[in-house]
Amino acid sequence: MIIGVLKETGNENRVAILPAEVVALKKMGIDVWVENNAGERAFASDLAYRTAGARLAERKDVISETEMLLSINPPVKDDITSFKDGQILCSVLNPVVNSNWLEKARLNGLSVLALDLIPRTTRAQSMDILSSMATVSGYKAVLNAASLLPRFFPMFMSAAGTIKPSRVLILGAGVAGLQAIAISRKLGAVVEVFDVRSAVKEEVQSLGGKFIEVVGAKEDIAAGGYAVEQTDEFKRKQQELIQERAIASDVVIATAQIPGMKAPVLLLKETIYSMKPGSVIVDLAASSGGNCELTENGKTVVVNGVNIIGKSDYPSDMPSDASKMFGCNIINLLKIMVDKDAKLILNLQDDIINGTTAVHGKEYISQRVKQLLNLI
Ligand code: NAI
Repeated sequence: MIIGVLKETGNENRVAILPAEVVALKKMGIDVWVENNAGERAFASDLAYRTAGARLAERKDVISETEMLLSINPPVKDDITSFKDGQILCSVLNPVVNSNWLEKARLNGLSVLALDLIPRTTRAQSMDILSSMATVSGYKAVLNAASLLPRFFPMFMSAAGTIKPSRVLILGAGVAGLQAIAISRKLGAVVEVFDVRSAVKEEVQSLGGKFIEVVGAKEDIAAGGYAVEQTDEFKRKQQELIQERAIASDVVIATAQIPGMKAPVLLLKETIYSMKPGSVIVDLAASSGGNCELTENGKTVVVNGVNIIGKSDYPSDMPSDASKMFGCNIINLLKIMVDKDAKLILNLQDDIINGTTAVHGKEYISQRVKQLLNLI
């Protein structure tokens, strides 16, 4: 099998496969074609790819010569007819945002694998690209906040007196939130955490965070470990408590999301006006509407002296390790997609492949895609 690695367009710095992962693919019997300069912004030169055994080529040749194409973002800017009937495109898809492109891909007989739809099961853990990228985001969000904050994170006892540690409030203890707790604690801050899933309480506490419980959260096992929409009564109680804790905080890292829905608004405008000037909010839910009422996606706004950073693309700011994790996740996925002769088998009976395949054979396959696009 020949796999192609496309150069990303726009502001993206990552690349789907780094040279080290080319070596791993070659060991699996897979040949790799890489678009010229694909790794440039992730600090991987064409020479490094060549040395690893890849073949460098122009975009049109990578597309025409390969069976499967890998990219971080879907190649929506290419003319859909430039791809071959039956070719597999594999990227983070964001099916709702790219629904028109996906429909064209389906009609043209392409198979599209959406890496953001890999099921959240134990077997699929090593392929979970969202977890890898959330790890980067949680880490970078804290560092970004710490560098902007006009205060120390740790407590200092110096000849000039004692400086109290900063207080960090984390909203949402999923993968990014847990990473943010760990890094904030390593930097010496006092950490408080909200989540609607009681299951995360122990994890939060084991990382040294204080879990603030709001009684009456709605949880749904059928949601596969994800959060679900809460009742109005719960939202009111939670908002009051968040307001109280945010006012006492120096940094808020907001990560709360509900898959397929707008992010819950947890920090109201009034709260921002009551927070300490100089405080920093990092809103990782910015691209799905934001947890803070005043968040602007892709921007930093200052209100009442509070910096509100609306940023959902931290992984692109750390392209070396983010690309490394991305490539390793892909290799783990490919291990269940190729046989011992390196022949590609798209086994739709496999729950991981079925859940990840958005379209194949001119049909929508993944139940999640069908749900997200209101097709069922
Ligand atoms: P996410 O990005 O969907 O949401 C982040 C966090 O926000 C979640 O913990 C969620 O409960 C919380 N949240 C949502 N609404 C909230 C509200 N109103 N107030 C406070 N918090 C709120 O979550 P992520 O990181 O994708 O993880 C979701 C679950 O999936 C977790 O249980 C995680 O452990 C699990 N998971 C399982 C994997 C596997 O088994 N392969 C891989 C990755 C995650």
